[in-house]
Amino acid sequence: MSNLSERLKHYPAVVDLQKRAKKRLPRVAWEYLDMGTDNDVALDLNREALNKIKFMPKFMLGNIQPDLSTTVFGREYKLPFGVAPVGLTGLMWPRVELILAQSAAKYQYPYTLSMVATQTPEAVGAVVGDMGWFQLYPPRSPLMRSDILQRAKDSGFHTLVVTADIPAPSGRQRSVRAGLTMPPKITPRFVWQGMINPAWTIATLREGLPSLRTLEKYSANGSMKEISDFVAKELGGTLDWTYLKEVRDLWDGPMVVKGIMHPSDAVKCLEIGADGVQVSNHGGRQLDGAPAAIDMLPIIVNEVGDKMTITFDSGIRTGLDVIRAYALGADFVFAGRAFISAVGAFGESGGDHVTEILKTEMRNDMANIGVASIEEIKAMRENDFFFE
Ligand SMILES: Cc1cc2nc3c(=O)[nH]c(=O)nc-3n(C[C@H](O)[C@H](O)[C@H](O)COP(=O)(O)O)c2cc1C
Repeated sequence: MSNLSERLKHYPAVVDLQKRAKKRLPRVAWEYLDMGTDNDVALDLNREALNKIKFMPKFMLGNIQPDLSTTVFGREYKLPFGVAPVGLTGLMWPRVELILAQSAAKYQYPYTLSMVATQTPEAVGAVVGDMGWFQLYPPRSPLMRSDILQRAKDSGFHTLVVTADIPAPSGRQRSVRAGLTMPPKITPRFVWQGMINPAWTIATLREGLPSLRTLEKYSANGSMKEISDFVAKELGGTLDWTYLKEVRDLWDGPMVVKGIMHPSDAVKCLEIGADGVQVSNHGGRQLDGAPAAIDMLPIIVNEVGDKMTITFDSGIRTGLDVIRAYALGADFVFAGRAFISAVGAFGESGGDHVTEILKTEMRNDMANIGVASIEEIKAMRENDFFFE
C-alpha cells in the first residue's frame, strides 16, 4: 500500500492495527505484547471500565475546531497522548523505539523509553528531540543507577518515570505457552514461527536478535543470557521509600512514580518530593486482582490532584479513551500496546499511522461531545458524563 492516507482507509482504528500485527508477528512476540497476567481479568477490566464512561453531548456550539495541545511540567505538547515505556521492544519489531521516537518528535508528544528496551538512551535521544521521558526500573547497584540516570540526562531525556509496580515477577502464562524464553532462544519452534512470518523475520535478520542494549555495558560479557540473569538479580524487589527518595535527590528534573493505584501511596510519593504519579495497573500485566486503573484515577485525583501531576495509562485504545481519562482528571495520558501494535502492523510508518488515528478520533469525539480543548475536557463535571 502506497501511502499513509491510503492505509488509513483500510486500517482506520487501533483494532485494525492489532489484527494486522497479530498476523505479522511470530506468536511468541504477539502473545508477549498482548497478554495480561494469569487469566487476563485485569486486562479485560481496563477495557470494560473505560467503555462504561459515557458523555452527555452539548450541541448548538457552531463549528468546533478542537485544540489538542496541553502543557505538563511546564512543557507544551501538541498532542495530549504519549508512548508508555515498553521493554523487550525489539522482539515485536526491530527499531520500534526509534520509529516511535521519530513520530513523537514529529508530532510533538512524549515518548517514554524503557530502561529494558532494546535501544539505548543515546540512540533514541538522537531522534526524540525534546520529547524524551526515561523510565527506570530500580537497579540494586547505586553506581549503575546513577550511571543510567546520567546517560538518560546526557541524551536529552528530561522527565524521569520510576516504575513501582513490579515488586515481584507476574504470571506470563500466554508468552510461556507460546515458547518465550529469557533470553529469547532460537528453538525449532521459534524458527517455524519465523518462517510463517517472513516480514518480521527479514526485518529482524537485518537488525539482529533483540538485546537489552542499555544494560549491556553493566554485565560482564554483554550476552543476552548474562543480561537476563543480571536483570533478575539486579532489578527485583529493590524499591522502597528510602530508595525512591534517593532517586528523587539524584534527578533534577520532573519525576513521576508509575504504577500507583493506592491513594495512600500517592500521598507518600508527594511527601518524598515526586512531581507526579502515573495511575496504571501496568496494562493488567502484574496483578490479575487489580481494579481497573481508570477506576482508581478519580480517587487519586481527589486525594492529591491539586498538589501534583497525575498521568494515566492502561487500556487506552481510542481517542475517546484519551478523552475519558482527561474527563476523570488526568493531566496526561499514555498508551503502550496501541503504539507497539501499530509498528508491528506497518513497520516504519506505524508510529505516524497510530498518531493520525488517535488525533482524528479525538478531534471528532471532542466536537461531538461539545468541548474545544483539553482544559474544557478537564473542566467537565457530573452533569457532562456518567458511568453506565
Ligand atoms: C509488552 C509490554 C512491555 C512493557 N514493558 C514495560 C517496561 O519496561 N516498563 C514499564 O514501566 N512498563 C512497561 N509496560 C507497561 C506499559 O508502560 C503500560 O503501563 C501499559 O502498556 C499500559 O497499558 P496499555 O498497553 O493497555 O496501553 C509494558 C507493557 C507491555 C504491553
